[in-house]
Amino acid sequence: MAGSFSYDTLFSENSSDTPLSAVKHAKYDFAVAYPAPETLPMDGLIQALRTAVDSDSGKTAREMAYYPHQLGSQELREYTSAKLASDRGFTVGADEIVLTNGSGEANGLVIQALTNPGDVVLAEDFVYMGTTNQLRRFGADIRGVAIDDGGIIPEELDEQIATLTAQGEKPKYLYTIPEHQNPTGSTLSAERRKAILDVAHRHGMPILEDDCYVDLRFEGETQPAFRTLDDSGIVVYVASFSKLLAPGLRLGYFTATPEVMRRALGFKIGSGPNQFAALAVEGFLRNNLDSHRDSFNPVLRSKRDAMVASLAENFGDTGATWSIPQGGCYVWLTMPETADIAAIRDEVFEQGVGYVAGTNFEADASGRIGKNCARLCFAFESVQKNTEGIALLAQLFKQHGQM
Ligand SMILES: Cc1ncc(COP(=O)(O)O)c(C=O)c1O
Repeated sequence: MAGSFSYDTLFSENSSDTPLSAVKHAKYDFAVAYPAPETLPMDGLIQALRTAVDSDSGKTAREMAYYPHQLGSQELREYTSAKLASDRGFTVGADEIVLTNGSGEANGLVIQALTNPGDVVLAEDFVYMGTTNQLRRFGADIRGVAIDDGGIIPEELDEQIATLTAQGEKPKYLYTIPEHQNPTGSTLSAERRKAILDVAHRHGMPILEDDCYVDLRFEGETQPAFRTLDDSGIVVYVASFSKLLAPGLRLGYFTATPEVMRRALGFKIGSGPNQFAALAVEGFLRNNLDSHRDSFNPVLRSKRDAMVASLAENFGDTGATWSIPQGGCYVWLTMPETADIAAIRDEVFEQGVGYVAGTNFEADASGRIGKNCARLCFAFESVQKNTEGIALLAQLFKQHGQM
């Protein structure tokens, strides 16, 4: 056998050396982006799969023997169509829904269909880095849109688009997470959504709506989706089963006009997503959606309450502020502007508390606005660990001279 083969001169120009780091958990892990494993309805999913197989084993075997349809499982698309009608109040047929390997893939396919290198794309000032990573990978020039506690400010958005357009940099589209935003936890009101749609129409700018967290509401009223308020085709709607059930299932979806769907599917590699997972999800949710949400969301609320109470106790007189979300997984902590909690993140992690620094969520990656902020996931750790972990975080910030 020859020595080890070298690929050094063979890699494509677009390839990058990606670290294969294992996921590390801090003792108090507020850095993750998903609910706790014990809230996963494992038995229910397995039972649903068993029932599907038993009810027509020949059909299930045939479905498993073929590669899944490009759009994914017919049954899960039909279920999703009914869920969107009852939960979100808009009507799309099963054939207008594309199931994907998580909503991350859905976002990626739509981004590829709409983005040329150099295109200006708008997103909330602080926004989910999984999407900004994809946007950058396909060459988007991302600009942050001004937000406050209620999310995007429509008047500022309007002004920004007008200014960019006058400079010859007309934005191609807006990516937004309107419900329980990642990372800030904010929800856009129906009024703001209507105003943003009005802005979008005036500027001829589509909205890529990521409704990934909509099922995780434990307080207040769900707001109508952009897609509910507008069926002109200007909204591309993306959602997921990851946060409601489990990211490991890898099931999300999008719906858009037929032409956007076909263009996005042009970037799809391989067939539709895992048929076994789709059977389990469809069978489970068809019978248990409400009971699952009813048991799951109160757990999330008690975890949020514990984190927020501990923040009040330990950060109350420090000049720090934090969001109090009505759902989702995240509290957004803002320390006084002089703080730099991005710089000490790794040390604090080693000392027991994980968080994601605000700099990671800056839409424009400028490093200017996020260093004194952090996303704290309240959904993963227990009530007790949320309380203890925030107390330890305060101690560590003090120790590092940040408060
Ligand atoms: C806003 C948002 N969109 C999409 C995703 C991707 O999730 P998935 O691909 O598991 O559906 C995440 C995951 O954290 C998210 O927070």
